[in-house]
Amino acid sequence: MNDNKPKALVTGASSGIGFELARQFAENGYDVLLTAEDGELHLAADEIRAHGAAVTAVRADLAEPGGVDRLYAAVTAEGRPLAAAALNAGVGKGGPFVENDIEDEIRIIDLNITSTVRLAKRLLPDMVRRGEGKVLFTSSIAATMPGSFQAVYNASKSFVQSFAEALQNELKDSGVTVTSLMPGPTETDFFRRADMQDTKVGQQEKDDPAKVAKDGFDALMAGRKKAVAGSAKTKAQGLVNRILPDSAKAAAHRRMAEPGSAEEGTSGRS
Ligand SMILES: NC(=O)c1ccc[n+]([C@@H]2O[C@H](COP(=O)([O-])OP(=O)(O)OC[C@H]3O[C@@H](n4cnc5c(N)ncnc54)[C@H](OP(=O)(O)O)[C@@H]3O)[C@@H](O)[C@H]2O)c1
Repeated sequence: MNDNKPKALVTGASSGIGFELARQFAENGYDVLLTAEDGELHLAADEIRAHGAAVTAVRADLAEPGGVDRLYAAVTAEGRPLAAAALNAGVGKGGPFVENDIEDEIRIIDLNITSTVRLAKRLLPDMVRRGEGKVLFTSSIAATMPGSFQAVYNASKSFVQSFAEALQNELKDSGVTVTSLMPGPTETDFFRRADMQDTKVGQQEKDDPAKVAKDGFDALMAGRKKAVAGSAKTKAQGLVNRILPDSAKAAAHRRMAEPGSAEEGTSGRS
């Protein structure tokens, strides 16, 4: 790595939005430390290297406390402080709460919430001590609506959103900026992994992860508080969600996320 270049960390960098965030950092003069759980991370690292960045790839299961510790050890081992961090790794799970396997849902909490808090607890004090740094939390537009048939996931993103907004205020005079990235439905592996391919939201046309990542990166660099990212449709949904009652948003979410809703003629009960 070139010590004169700023360094960024991206979690969940092997695919989707995280991969595109890593590409944004590399194209904008950062070296990057990428992390994900599986072996495909190394393919992603090779692609990011082709954009001229020095890349370190660290495989870690962040749903385990030991994974966060190992990642933080790799961050500090390089000796160069992080100029920016994108805490992006996350998973979902569709389906009725009363039927879903509890272990799948606890894993959502362990990754989306617990690992995000553990990692922020490690990274932010270093940044505050230095009086500089930029942190991006991948929240979601799901944070703004009760997630019928995706209940634990939406609740996890409401946590991330609230957490990010609280830190924005706590750190406002510290030199460290906190930005929340709020994508709408985006064309990644997310819906397949969440078993939601038979839902309307799983089947509908989605936002481009490269566009979502660029919106997030631009907001991060500008020190903005949030980016409702992607298409005009997603930005409009962000605005509408500010005024709709929660019960209406829960009903709308059911129509999009109920198992089988992709097929014509489903009840769409609300
Ligand atoms: N796609 C959407 O519609 C959408 C909308 C709003 C917000 N988001 C959020 O965007 C973020 C990125 O998701 P995506 O849509 O880009 O999905 P994705 O393509 O499935 O990417 C998920 C990333 O998280 C990593 N990951 C999963 N479990 C992990 C674990 N236990 N430890 C470490 N890394 C792990 C994955 O790596 P491995 O493959 O190695 O596990 C992968 O790199 C998530 O926080 C998601 O909630 C997505």
